[in-house]
Amino acid sequence: MKNSTGNEALRLSIQAELDAKKTSLERNKLGQFATPTVLAREILSYGLSLIPADCSVRFIDPAIGTGSFYSALRETLGDRVLGVAKGYEVDPHYGEPARDLWANCGLDIEIADFTKIKPPSDGFNLLICNPPYVRHHHLDGTEKKRLQAESKKSAGVKLSGLAGLYCHFLAISHQWMSADGIAGWLIPSEFMDVNYGREVKRYLLEDVTLLSIHRFDPNDVQFDDALVSSAVVWFKKSKPPEGHTVEFSYGGTHSEPAISRRISSTELLNEAKWTRFPKQEVREVSDTPILSDFFSIKRGIATGSNDFFILSKDKIIELGLPMEFFRPILPSPRYVKADEIEADEQGNPILPESLFLLDCRLPEDEIKAKYPSLWHYLESGKEEIASRYLCKSRPIWYKQEDRSYTPFVCTYMGRSDSGSGSPFRFLLNHSQAIVANTYLMLYPKPGVAERLNNRPDVIRKIWKSLKNIRPESMMSEGRVYGGGLHKMEPNELAKVSASEISELLSES
Ligand SMILES: C[S@@+](CC[C@H](N)C(=O)[O-])C[C@H]1O[C@@H](n2cnc3c(N)ncnc32)[C@H](O)[C@@H]1O
Repeated sequence: MKNSTGNEALRLSIQAELDAKKTSLERNKLGQFATPTVLAREILSYGLSLIPADCSVRFIDPAIGTGSFYSALRETLGDRVLGVAKGYEVDPHYGEPARDLWANCGLDIEIADFTKIKPPSDGFNLLICNPPYVRHHHLDGTEKKRLQAESKKSAGVKLSGLAGLYCHFLAISHQWMSADGIAGWLIPSEFMDVNYGREVKRYLLEDVTLLSIHRFDPNDVQFDDALVSSAVVWFKKSKPPEGHTVEFSYGGTHSEPAISRRISSTELLNEAKWTRFPKQEVREVSDTPILSDFFSIKRGIATGSNDFFILSKDKIIELGLPMEFFRPILPSPRYVKADEIEADEQGNPILPESLFLLDCRLPEDEIKAKYPSLWHYLESGKEEIASRYLCKSRPIWYKQEDRSYTPFVCTYMGRSDSGSGSPFRFLLNHSQAIVANTYLMLYPKPGVAERLNNRPDVIRKIWKSLKNIRPESMMSEGRVYGGGLHKMEPNELAKVSASEISELLSES
C-alpha cells in the first residue's frame, strides 16, 4: 500500500468542515472527537509492531469517524500486507464523506451502530478504536440494558449501570478479534480508578493479556475540545502467561513517555487505583493510619438548586423571609480566599458575603398558615425547582439533608497547577456554617471528638496536620480529569494516610 499524505491532508480538512457543522452539544452526545494525526500514527505504528511480520493485517475500527486511524495505518504500513480493513460509523454526517474519501482505498465503511452488528466468524488481528465517550447518564435505560447484555454475551464482562459507552465498546469488540489479535484503545483513564471500571480491569487481567497502558499527562489535554484525560490501552486476545507483567507509562508522548515501569498482574489485581502507576510504587499493604480512622467523611449537601435555596442576607431581608429557617452556609471555595473562617457572635462566618441555606422542615400547609412570605417564596419555585430530580425524590421537596457543622472541611475539586501545589484545600471552620457539595466535611469520630472538646489548640494542630498531607497522597486517592482537574469523593479522602494526625492524637 502506498504512502498517502495527500489523503490525510484531505481527511483533516473534511473533518474540520464536518465538525464545524455540528454544535459541541451534538458532538458530545455521540462522543465525536477525532484523534490527532500524530497520535494516530504513533498508535498504528506501535500496533503494527505487535503483529508478527509474516501475518497480513486485518484491521478494524469500530468507531471510525472520518478514518484517522485508517489513514495512519496507510502511513505506517510500510511493506506489510493489508488483508482487509473495515470501519463502522453510526453517524452518516461523518460516515458518508468518510466512505467517499476512502472509496477506492481498500477501506469498507458501514454506516451502522457497531454495538448492534453480529461479529463475523473470522476476526480481526488489529482492532484500533477511539470509542465514543458517552457517559452513562446519556444512555437511556433500555439502551443501557441492551449494552450490558451485549457486553456480557461478547466477553463475559458484567458492566454496571454507571459504565460509559466506551466500556461497552471494549467488551463488545472482544468477539470481533481473532485469537492472538491485538487491540489498542484510546479511552478515558477514568476506568482505572472508579468502581465501574473494576470489571473492565478484571477482563484486562484475566481474559486477555494486558500489554501496556500509557496515560497522558492530564495537564496536556490530548483533545483540545474534550475535557477528558486519556489513556491508550493495549492487549492481546489470549490468556495471560504465568507471572505476567504490564508496562505502565505516563506523560510525554505515546512513543516517548516521560516515565514507565512494569507492574505485575498480581500487584494490579490488588490495587484499586491504577493511575498511581507508574509514578508511584506498588502500595504496601500496611497498617498506616488513614483519615477514616479519625473522621467520618461526608460530602456537603446537594441542595437541588443553589440559586433557589441559598440566599444572601440582603435577599432574605428584602423578601421578608423568617430568619429562623435559614442556617449559614459557606460560599463556593473560589469565593473563600482564606483557609481559616472566623465567626461572629451568632456563629455566622465572617466573609465578604453572608450566605444562608433555606432549611425548613415544616409541611406546606403549616408554612402557608404561619409564614406567608416563605410560602410565597416556595410557591415561586414550585414549577421549576420542585420538579427537579433531587427535589422530587425528597419527602418534602424543599427539605435539605441533615448535616451539622464541623471545623474541618476540604474542597471537593481543584487543579494541580493551582499555585499551592495541591488541588485540594483544608479549611478550618470556626463558624456554624455547613457546606454544599463543592466541599467534603470531616466529622471527628467519637473518640477524637472527645479529645477536641474545648481544645481549640488541638483542633488547630489537627487542621495543620491535614494541611501538611502531601499533595501526592491526596491526588493518588482522588481521581483526575482532563486539564489537570482533580476530584475527591468521601470514600477516597477516607483512605488518605493520616500518620501525623495519629501521632498528634496519641500525644495530646
Ligand atoms: C471519538 S470518535 C473517533 C473517531 C475516529 N476513529 C478518530 O479517532 O478520529 C468516535 C466516533 O464513533 C462514532 N459512534 C458513536 N456511537 C457509535 C456507534 N454506536 N457505532 C459506531 N460508531 C459510533 C461517533 O459518531 C464518532 O465519529
